[in-house]
Amino acid sequence: MTKSCFSKCRLGRIMGWLQIVLGGLVIIVSISTLSRFYSAGFFLQNEDICRQFYSSNVNLYQGVDMGALTARVNEVLDKMESLQEKLESTLKLKQMDKNISKFLEEEVIRPLYAAHIALRQIRLPRMEVNQQMKEDPLINSFVVEEIRKYITPKENRLGKMNIFGTERVYNSIGHACAAMKEELEEYMDYDVGSYCKDDWTLGQKLMVRGCDPLPRRRCLTRASKLYLRPYPINESLWRLPDGRNVRWSNYQCRNFECLSSKNPKRGYTKCTGCFEMEKEKLKWVGNYSSLPIDFMIVDVLAIKPGEMRVGLDFGVGTGTFAARMREQNVTVVSTAFNLGAPFSEMIALRGLIPLYTTLNQRLPLFDNTMDIIHTTGLMDGWIDLQLLDFILFDWDRVLRPGGLLWIDRFFCKRKDLDDYMYMFLQFRYKKHKWAIASKSKDEVFLSALLEKPPRSL
Ligand SMILES: *[C@@H]1O[C@H](CO)[C@@H](O)[C@H](O)[C@H]1NC(C)=O
Ligand SMILES: *[C@@H]1O[C@H](CO)[C@@H](O)[C@H](O)[C@H]1NC(C)=O
Ligand SMILES: *[C@@H]1O[C@H](CO)[C@@H](O)[C@H](O)[C@H]1NC(C)=O
Ligand SMILES: *[C@@H]1O[C@H](CO)[C@@H](O)[C@H](O)[C@H]1NC(C)=O
Repeated sequence: MTKSCFSKCRLGRIMGWLQIVLGGLVIIVSISTLSRFYSAGFFLQNEDICRQFYSSNVNLYQGVDMGALTARVNEVLDKMESLQEKLESTLKLKQMDKNISKFLEEEVIRPLYAAHIALRQIRLPRMEVNQQMKEDPLINSFVVEEIRKYITPKENRLGKMNIFGTERVYNSIGHACAAMKEELEEYMDYDVGSYCKDDWTLGQKLMVRGCDPLPRRRCLTRASKLYLRPYPINESLWRLPDGRNVRWSNYQCRNFECLSSKNPKRGYTKCTGCFEMEKEKLKWVGNYSSLPIDFMIVDVLAIKPGEMRVGLDFGVGTGTFAARMREQNVTVVSTAFNLGAPFSEMIALRGLIPLYTTLNQRLPLFDNTMDIIHTTGLMDGWIDLQLLDFILFDWDRVLRPGGLLWIDRFFCKRKDLDDYMYMFLQFRYKKHKWAIASKSKDEVFLSALLEKPPRSL
């Protein structure tokens, strides 16, 4: 009984092993076949085929005098350059009909310049043997030339290391770009050197849906019809900017006055009233609120006198926190997103720095550098706990030891408060201020001022 099982079991095991080995063989054979197909260029897009042959098959160049070709190209480049200079100087000197000079500018000089640049960017095949090209992630998700050009790593000239110690520079895009091919291709559909479409809304839509970072573009961004000198800094901080300095075509409103909270057709819902300076002037100073959740800037700075110099305001707004902090000689960068209104333009016109960013990415700041992070209006009870966790750890990374985290009017459902409180308290920061107030029947506000401890491990 035991014996027969023994032999049967052994047979079974041997058969099992045989199957595994055979399976392995099949995989190896298919991979090697595939890779042979691949090295012959069967799966490659046109450009790859060229690159493949150009880079690894030096024999193809026998018979082409590379030196002569390079010399010829350089000659053409020189000619184009002198022609360009001649045209431009003529345009400047001669009193020409406006229509003709405009025609020359747009239809002759600019295309010529674009052709010139394009020719300069052609990399003539190198004489030396390159190592086999490695396939780069995402490239074959796209067929549009300009996207492929952007994400193709750029080798340093002369094969040298650059200041970052790498041989090539990678232009990165968000991985979700691959899921929004059509929109991205529309976004990247332009003539190099010409004017971009007026499509920042498409770019913003791509960003919020995870195509972030967006690729850079080689077209000229449109600006407002007029751009008047911005107000000097002693006036700009608290004065509604001149609406003519904004391109309004993608907003419902056509000037800053229209963005008032009283106007039901203002076209945005976040941070209503943020474009009214009288209301903004009250925030974080004096007695702007009797609620315990509203801390004053002077009280917060008094906790660390003279120590607060640089910070980040993470929220939705028009830069008022940064403006007040500037008056206290603290430099604050404000995150901004154009949610139906020109938040970024407004902040910049006030003379402050808008950081155009989403919740998608790690902050572009180094570890232990910020004195203060203030947050309001952006993350509320809607936010996923795991997302919040990643964000909070990132802020913790960026805050310096002894830096302050000011959570301002965070709100959520009363029943969720414990979850969120745990999130904020998990870092064991020192609690300077902590206040909870009722927002509505089932919602609560939470404000906190927390200090990152030293972490000299
Ligand atoms: C320039 O072109 C516009 C139409 O494109 C025309 O109305 C105008 O008269 C032209 N001006 C001159 C000086 O030719
Ligand atoms: C701002 O500064 C300029 C020169 O520095 C001065 O002429 C102007 O009066 C100031 N404006 C205000 C509102 O203080
Ligand atoms: C704030 O209010 C208190 C009493 O409500 C008052 O005594 C104090 O002067 C006010 N401070 C400012 C700066 O308005
Ligand atoms: C900010 O700096 C200026 C110039 O150094 C100084 O005059 C001013 O008193 C400072 N303000 C505060 C609030 O410390």
